[in-house]
Amino acid sequence: MTSDQTQPAAGLAGVIAGRTRLSTVGKEGHGLTYRGYSIDDLAEHAVFEEVAWLLLRGELPSAIELDAYRAKLKSLRHVPTPLKNVLEQLPGDAHPMDVLRTGCSALGTLEPESGTHDGLAIADRLLAVLPSMLLYWDAFHTSGKRIEVATDDDSIAGHVLRVYHGQPPTELHERALDASLTLYAEHEFNASTFAARVSTSTLSDFYSAITAAIGTLRGPLHGGANEAAFELISRFASPDEAERGVMEMLARKEKIMGFGHRVYRTSDPRSGIVQRWAKRLADEAGDTRLYPVSERIEQVMRREKKLFPNLDFYSATAYHLLGIPTSFFTPLFVFSRTAGWAAHVLEQRSDNRLIRPTAIYDGPEPRPIVAIDQR
Ligand code: COA
Repeated sequence: MTSDQTQPAAGLAGVIAGRTRLSTVGKEGHGLTYRGYSIDDLAEHAVFEEVAWLLLRGELPSAIELDAYRAKLKSLRHVPTPLKNVLEQLPGDAHPMDVLRTGCSALGTLEPESGTHDGLAIADRLLAVLPSMLLYWDAFHTSGKRIEVATDDDSIAGHVLRVYHGQPPTELHERALDASLTLYAEHEFNASTFAARVSTSTLSDFYSAITAAIGTLRGPLHGGANEAAFELISRFASPDEAERGVMEMLARKEKIMGFGHRVYRTSDPRSGIVQRWAKRLADEAGDTRLYPVSERIEQVMRREKKLFPNLDFYSATAYHLLGIPTSFFTPLFVFSRTAGWAAHVLEQRSDNRLIRPTAIYDGPEPRPIVAIDQR
């Protein structure tokens, strides 16, 4: 509740819009926690499927539960034939986020929510099948092949990298992507999660909430920032060129994507973790351009604007070094954040009230209607 009810909070900044048991963002001393665990500990000691289980079921799994969960997710990777037909009909030059949004919605007609196929079951199904959908669509439209997308990889990270590259990933690559999925999994009342909660609050179905979230994540002020950040980083041949280019952009008052945050004030606790992965990948690949360019852009932004990189900035560099095309960066965010979105949908349902704020009216004063032939 804002103290001054005569003025709206622009962008709902600072407004407490609900309660959650899922995560804390920007609390002093604990930059980001999922159900009480710090993001540093989770990224270091847990795999993404453990984190998804934690978010969806409340506690970390035992070793037996994790094995069973990974096996279950593996068994849910197949794309049903009618959905393959839909994916084949979509344009090959569609944005992958539009493909995921459409694929999620289409699956909702094929496997609708019911008493037996409940929210938790749909959450697991989407975590397993969203990567398969995108990879099937991509392979069909780039090589004309109807590929097999249900691999036997234990991890979602391994599954994605194997299907995309047509060969098993190195351990370093799989761990790097896995850690990034953990970092992206949950972030309190961000725009896409809030969209999912608003949809849920009307008692709409699970797929509608996730479809709304995917559409909301797509924008460059939110998840789309990782694609926009890479577009910027890849423009420059050297750190000096990057410094000149960014200074010119700032002089034109342009935003530098991958910097700044609505809630964090001094740093994004996820950024240092993904930066370390980006550095390891750069060293392994012998990269002498992207990582140094990224570092210089960070220095310039700190010096000139006192702004820090958010998760999207070094994720962009890391994803490129994993051989992932830029248009797949935000979809990778979807594969991970589906865990957080789904947990929020379940949480909203557990204590629901319709989300329906009010607005200050700025339009014309009441006036009489004039007959159409006299306007
Ligand atoms: N590059 C340059 N200037 C930036 C900036 C950026 N990335 N982010 C914020 N600023 C500046 C704004 O221009 C504004 O300056 P002004 O007061 O002189 O007009 C000020 O900082 C406040 O920014 P604002 O956009 O109003 O803050 P917000 O809380 O509404 O927005 C973001 C937060 C994340 C949307 C914003 O920082 C942004 O657009 N970042 C780039 C997109 C991005 O990386 N998104 C992913 C977020 S995880």
